[in-house]
Amino acid sequence: MMRCKSPLLLMSVLLSVLRIHVLAQNSAKTVDSEGHQWWQHAVFYEIYPRSFADSNNDGIGDLSGITSKLDYLKDLGVDAIWISPCFPSPQVDFGYDVSDYENIDPMYGTLADFDTLAASAKKHNVRIILDFVVNHSSDQHPWFIDSKSSRTAAHRDWYIWRDGKGSAPPNDWTSIFGGSAWKLDATTSQYYYHFFYAQQPDLNWRNPAVKDAMFDVTRWWYKRGVSGFRLDAVDTLYEDTNLKDNPVLPGKNAFGDPNEERKFNTKLPEVHEALRGLRKVTDEYNGVLIGETWTADIAELNLYYGAGNNELQLPMDFLFTTVNKLSPAEFRKQIAAVNSAAGWPTFVISNHDIVRSYDRYGDGEHNDPIAKLMAALYLTLRGTPIMYYGEEIGMKTTPPTRKEDVKDPIGRSGWPKEKGRDGERTPMQWDESDNAGFSKAAPWLPVPPTAKTHNVADEAKDGESILTFYKKVLKLRHTNKELLDGSYVPINQNDQNVLSYLRVYQDQAVLVALNMSGTTQKVNFELKKNGFASAKSLVATGQSSSSGDVVTLDPYGVFIGQLMR
Ligand code: NOJ
Ligand code: CA
Repeated sequence: MMRCKSPLLLMSVLLSVLRIHVLAQNSAKTVDSEGHQWWQHAVFYEIYPRSFADSNNDGIGDLSGITSKLDYLKDLGVDAIWISPCFPSPQVDFGYDVSDYENIDPMYGTLADFDTLAASAKKHNVRIILDFVVNHSSDQHPWFIDSKSSRTAAHRDWYIWRDGKGSAPPNDWTSIFGGSAWKLDATTSQYYYHFFYAQQPDLNWRNPAVKDAMFDVTRWWYKRGVSGFRLDAVDTLYEDTNLKDNPVLPGKNAFGDPNEERKFNTKLPEVHEALRGLRKVTDEYNGVLIGETWTADIAELNLYYGAGNNELQLPMDFLFTTVNKLSPAEFRKQIAAVNSAAGWPTFVISNHDIVRSYDRYGDGEHNDPIAKLMAALYLTLRGTPIMYYGEEIGMKTTPPTRKEDVKDPIGRSGWPKEKGRDGERTPMQWDESDNAGFSKAAPWLPVPPTAKTHNVADEAKDGESILTFYKKVLKLRHTNKELLDGSYVPINQNDQNVLSYLRVYQDQAVLVALNMSGTTQKVNFELKKNGFASAKSLVATGQSSSSGDVVTLDPYGVFIGQLMR
C-alpha cells in the first residue's frame, strides 16, 4: 500500500487521482482492463441509406427501412452503424450536399423516424454514427442563399468569395469532380470556391462563426442520441489564404483537366485545430470521430490522430485499400505500418466511393473464397473494422453499361473513363425476388444479376456461405480476448503465399493463416519448438485444418486457431 509522508504529498496524490478519474469520466469510459474504449471493440457498418431497405416502397431506402433491419445487423455482429448523409438535400451528390444539418430529408423519413431508429438501435445495443459533411454545404442551404445575396450579407464570409483575374477565375485550382473549382455568381460578380460540385460551396472554416455553428450541429445530434460522426472530406477543410496556384502535373484526368498537385487546398495544418475543437465536443459525450482521411503515408495518418490523440480516434487507413492484389508481402507491409501508427488502427476495404473488395481482390473464379479470406483478414487484425453494406454477402460492383443509365453526375461528365460510383451503391440483396427484397417498387438503381446467387435469405441457410463465415468470425472477434485486446505479431514473414500472424494476449495466442494463393499450402509453424502442443481450430474454411505443427490450407483458405499448450 502507498504511504504518504507529508500531507502536501498526500494532497497532490489525491488531486491527481481525482483528475485522472474526472478525465476518465469525461472522455474515456473504458470497456476492459486494457483501457480500451467502446469504439475500439466495436464493429462498424456503413449503410448507404438510399440502397439499404425501402419501407414505403418508393424505390429509395429510408430510415424506417434501417430500423426494420436492426435484428439482422445485431445477429450479424454489428455494434455501430454509420449512416451516409440522410439530411435534407437537393441530392446533387446524393446527400453530400446538405441544405439543413439538423433535420432528415423527407425522402428518408422524419425526425420522429430518426428517434424511433435511435430508440430501437439502443435496445439492440447498436450505436448510430452520422455522416457530417464538414467541408461544404449545399448551395440551397440558407447560409449560402444569404451569403450569395450581397457582398455585405450576414453570411457572406461563411463561404469563400473572391474576385476573378480579369475574366478568369481567381486561380488554377480544379474541382475534384471536374472543371474549375470556382464559379462566378452573377448577383455579386464574384467567384465562390467549391472543391466538389458547384452545388457544394466550401464553408469558410477560418470564420469562427462557421466553426461554432458546426460544433453546435454535433452537440444537437449527440443530444439526440448519436454516438459520433464520420467526418466527410476533412483533407479539404482549409485553403491557402493567398490562393497560390497549385503545381500542374503531367497528363489530364478523366474530366479532361490538367492533373495537379493539390498543395494549396488540401491537408493544410489549420485543419488540426478544427479537429481538436470537434474532438472536445465529442469527448463531452463519450463519442467517436471517424475521418475520411486520404493520407499518402503513415506520417500523414499520424497527424490526424493528433498530438496526444486529441483529434480523430479513427482516421480511416485507406492505404490498406491501395493494396490491389492478394499479396502477403504488400499486406504485411501495410499492416506493420498502421500498427506502428500513433493511434488505434481502422480498417476499411470497401465503401460507397470505391470498387467493392469483392471485385478488387476476386479473380473471377474464386471470388467467394477470396471474400471470406479478406473478411478473416480485416476482422482479425488489431484495430477497428468498418464494414460496408453487402460486403458480408459478397455483393459485386455492378456499374452501368450505358451512359444514359448513370445516376452519379461524375459518371456522366467523366464517361467512359470515369463511370461514377453507382456500381458500388446498388440495392442491398435481401433475397432472390425481383427487387431483391429491397423494395416492392423499381429501385433507384437496378438490382445486380448476382442477387439471385448472393443474397441474405439464401446465404443465411447455407453453412458455407460468405454471410455465415462473416457471422462466425464476428462472433469470435467479440468473445476471444486475444482478438479483442491482443498485440499483432507477424510470423513466417518470408512466405510468399500465406499471410500468417498471431494475436497475443498475456500468455495466450491465436494463429491466423491466410492462403493468398490458388494452390493448397502446407505451413509448418514449429509449434512444439515454441512451446505449444497444437493449434485448435476456431474458424476455418473448407478442408483447411491443422495437425501437429502443420496447418494445411485450401486454395485461398483460412485457418484461425487457438494455440494450445
Ligand atoms: C466524400 C464522400 O464519401 C463522397 O461520396 C462525396 O461525393 C464527397 N466526399 C463530397 O462530399
Ligand atoms: Ca423509401
